[in-house]
Amino acid sequence: MAKTSTKERATPATHEEKLAELKAHMAELQKQENAQSQLISILHKAQSLYGYLPNHVMDEIAQTMGIPTAHIWGVATFYHYFKLTPPGRYEIALCLGTACYVKGAAQILQAVKDELKIDVGGVTEDGVFSLAPARCLGACGLAPVAMIGEKIHGELTPKKVVQILKDYRKQAEKDK
Ligand code: FES
Repeated sequence: MAKTSTKERATPATHEEKLAELKAHMAELQKQENAQSQLISILHKAQSLYGYLPNHVMDEIAQTMGIPTAHIWGVATFYHYFKLTPPGRYEIALCLGTACYVKGAAQILQAVKDELKIDVGGVTEDGVFSLAPARCLGACGLAPVAMIGEKIHGELTPKKVVQILKDYRKQAEKDK
């Protein structure tokens, strides 16, 4: 049976803990030079802690680092990687890498968009799913592949992915 590690995802639970970790990260980086690359590293850290970049966190970064908020927003919106809204309960990372693409990733993407009525970067109205493109997920042998939540789903077809999404939605309904 596959082992799951809780250690590797031991992210701080409370807002205070997350903020403390972010502040520690900023304090470390403040010792270095090159503000621009520091900012990107800080935004990465913030997103890994919160799942996206909340407004109050952007303000905190601006204050602590002495960087204008407008500049931080400029950087955060320039890079598609950064999310400015909370992700869905299940984040769908759909691989558009070469191996997946030649095996029909574009059709999988279209099926997901049609089923969920969202575009890439969007979140469903009920907050259950968000959709993001991904480069190689390291499972090319199973192409085309998507990661939904923590799980890799491979050898997808448009029909199969729609059924998988329905199963996740059912689970989300049950957990309400
Ligand atoms: S290209 Fe999709 S998993 Fe490698």
